[in-house]
Amino acid sequence: MPFRRVLAVALLCHGVIAGRPGPAADETRPARAASAPRKLHGRFLHITDIHPDEFYKLHSSTDEDGACHRGKGPAGPYGAETSDCDSPFSLVNATFDWIDAHLKETIDFVVWTGDSARHDRDEDLPRNADQVLGTNTWIADKFARLFAADDDGAKGMTVPVVPTFGNNDILPHNILLPGPNKWFQHYAHIWRHFIPEEQRHSFEYGGWFHVEVIPDKLAVFSLNTLYFFDRNAGVDGCANPAEPGYKQMEWLKVQLQFLRERGMKAILMGHVPPARTESKMLWDETCWQKYSLWMHQFRDVVVVGLYGHMNIDHFLIHDKDEIDIAALAGSAEFGTREAMDDELSTQSASDYLMELRSDWAKLTPPPTSGKEVNKEGKRRKGKKRSDPWGERYHLSLVGPSVVPNYFPTLRVLEYNITGLEHALLWKDAARKGISHDTEAPQKHLELRHLPDEADIESDPDLDLDLETDDDDDTLDATKKKHKKKKNKKKKPPSKDKKPKDPNLFPPLPPSKSTPPGPAYSPQPLTLTGYTQYFANLTHINNLNLTDPSTDTTNNDGESGLWGWDWDWLLRWRKGKHGGKKPATGGPHSPQPPPPPREFAYEVEYSTFEDAIYRLGDLTVNSFVELAVRMGGEVGKSVGVDGLGGQGDEEEGSEGDDGDDDEGGVESDDGDDDDDTEVGAEKKKKKGKGKKGEGKKGKKRKQNKTWLHFLRHAFVGTLEKDELKNFT
Ligand SMILES: *[C@@H]1O[C@H](CO)[C@@H](O)[C@H](O)[C@H]1NC(C)=O
Ligand SMILES: *[C@@H]1O[C@H](CO)[C@@H](O)[C@H](O)[C@H]1NC(C)=O
Ligand SMILES: *[C@@H]1O[C@H](CO)[C@@H](O)[C@H](O)[C@H]1NC(C)=O
Ligand SMILES: *[C@@H]1O[C@H](CO)[C@@H](O)[C@H](O)[C@H]1NC(C)=O
Ligand SMILES: *[C@@H]1O[C@H](CO)[C@@H](O)[C@H](O)[C@H]1NC(C)=O
Repeated sequence: MPFRRVLAVALLCHGVIAGRPGPAADETRPARAASAPRKLHGRFLHITDIHPDEFYKLHSSTDEDGACHRGKGPAGPYGAETSDCDSPFSLVNATFDWIDAHLKETIDFVVWTGDSARHDRDEDLPRNADQVLGTNTWIADKFARLFAADDDGAKGMTVPVVPTFGNNDILPHNILLPGPNKWFQHYAHIWRHFIPEEQRHSFEYGGWFHVEVIPDKLAVFSLNTLYFFDRNAGVDGCANPAEPGYKQMEWLKVQLQFLRERGMKAILMGHVPPARTESKMLWDETCWQKYSLWMHQFRDVVVVGLYGHMNIDHFLIHDKDEIDIAALAGSAEFGTREAMDDELSTQSASDYLMELRSDWAKLTPPPTSGKEVNKEGKRRKGKKRSDPWGERYHLSLVGPSVVPNYFPTLRVLEYNITGLEHALLWKDAARKGISHDTEAPQKHLELRHLPDEADIESDPDLDLDLETDDDDDTLDATKKKHKKKKNKKKKPPSKDKKPKDPNLFPPLPPSKSTPPGPAYSPQPLTLTGYTQYFANLTHINNLNLTDPSTDTTNNDGESGLWGWDWDWLLRWRKGKHGGKKPATGGPHSPQPPPPPREFAYEVEYSTFEDAIYRLGDLTVNSFVELAVRMGGEVGKSVGVDGLGGQGDEEEGSEGDDGDDDEGGVESDDGDDDDDTEVGAEKKKKKGKGKKGEGKKGKKRKQNKTWLHFLRHAFVGTLEKDELKNFT
């Protein structure tokens, strides 16, 4: 895509691309570990859903019967892009080689969010435990070798790798019983290089642990999301103290409080994201509720949540107003969300994204949308903003997969290391045997019961609405009104009758003097942006395909289309080349297939450069602003004409784009500018329909940003026509 090319070139010119060719990458590698003292780089890798498949067969069929295991078809040397096939080992090797050459020297840690076994999709080749553990061992060893401090690994690793379970890393998939169990034992061994020694007990009990990736500064929490996962029939949510989900939440609470007391921050990571829309969800509701509550209470500590599983590149914004304490006590109706499938069919992916979009339309935009307004100092005077940092929200980022359901991807996130230049490094702490967490976490649970827990418990209402806003009368009034209205909607839970859950011990909120955390205001450890890499397998595989069905009206006959509706019915996507076969040159002049091109990941987009996203950083306000900018009208859809516009403009110069959009921001927000906050809110509620009228420019811009997002969501694999499905 031309825009990406331009982007890639621009990035090259700015020297932003990681591991750009230079002396650092190749020549000095063998000697480096010993010589150059390592410092923090302010970057880390998020890799997810590798799904290696030992049975992948080159040039086999990608349709459901073949499953890239048999038959003749377009399964390429590095995988069958846009299909439901899993990853060939060649793709895994090439990915690690690429990380070795381009990222290894410039990242501080790795977040690896699971699913390192093939799917259980081929009835002729059911999975067994040896296979699931086998590919997991293979990948874990690859990480250990890649970051080995010396040749035989005796000196440990240079940077920490933090793994977690995917729903396909166990048998049968999705079903994980409470621990201790044999899976935790196996993984305690497979991940022995990654799980801190002093946490092995707790890991074997529940499959959760954390790593101080920057000792005394930043910990990454590996959440066992399978205990939150609604499709795990082996457990039951997070409300009952007997459930491992409940216990994990308790562990998380205690550990985060401990971190808070030490002045540390946390990145949470897991496989299954806490995705939840009007009609769909992935987590059990009680777990989702608790998580939301925890994240809100620990908003001074948690930097972000990073997840995989869904393969779609997107983000989630959680609103504290969705927290319903009564629901946690099991006394309120949960609504009728249905559990989402393992991996979304395209039809449900489209429904899901459309629902996200309409949720975004309802978000309260940040006080100053965009730098432009900020610069002029508008809206800073007058009434104090109720929630200037968007602290009612928190953010989860969902990274797309290595397995080429679309194209293989990697994400490199960057964070602010101002003031951390001389921080102790993980490898030095590890080598010196410094252990920052010598007590077993289980012990913390008993010994370090939160001091004020009893107080909170005795206040079942836990007035979340008021605790951050006590210095703003205006807001309190609005909120209270809002609250009343909300309560009316629900059935009975009036203030005094709200049932008390004896098992709910909410975490403490930040103290009143605590400034907003790194998720909200730019500071050390705030995420500043990320660069999304992808490998264009269509280009790299270099297949020479014939299409036996070109002149029939086969579903795949239409050029470029891989038959959404058809695939949805089949629930198997055979990919963009589905049904085609490698050209052989005929029986009389057999020809070897052309060799693949050199394998490489290239920049798909970077939030530092993306002229449409315009994410100045990855704070909550930045994402809320972007989400609001994309938020469609509820129930409405995107026409393809919007896409045409996008294509044209993408090819234009970035400067033009920028100007155009800047104007857009101002006019988008124009009507709010002179209002007091309360006025603005009222206006928004009342005048939604009106506001949309006569604003063709705004709509066009919304569509443009939304389609840009969609294109990223599917890693650039969707054609214009295929985006029609997002209606
Ligand atoms: C992948 O790499 C390993 C060595 O790291 C090698 O033994 C194996 O043959 C490679 N597989 C493929 C398919 O390239
Ligand atoms: C990084 O943090 C420092 C210190 O809080 C701040 O001054 C700076 O603006 C931040 N940098 C970015 C790029 O956000
Ligand atoms: C991938 O490569 C193919 C073939 O070279 C090209 O047509 C396509 O536009 C590329 N896709 C992206 C997203 O760059
Ligand atoms: C592709 O296959 C056709 C038919 O066998 C053959 O004529 C052509 O030379 C092949 N192209 C390449 C690049 O190998
Ligand atoms: C934007 O999409 C809507 C459908 O959601 C469509 O009605 C409208 O015409 C589009 N606007 C532009 C300017 O493309």
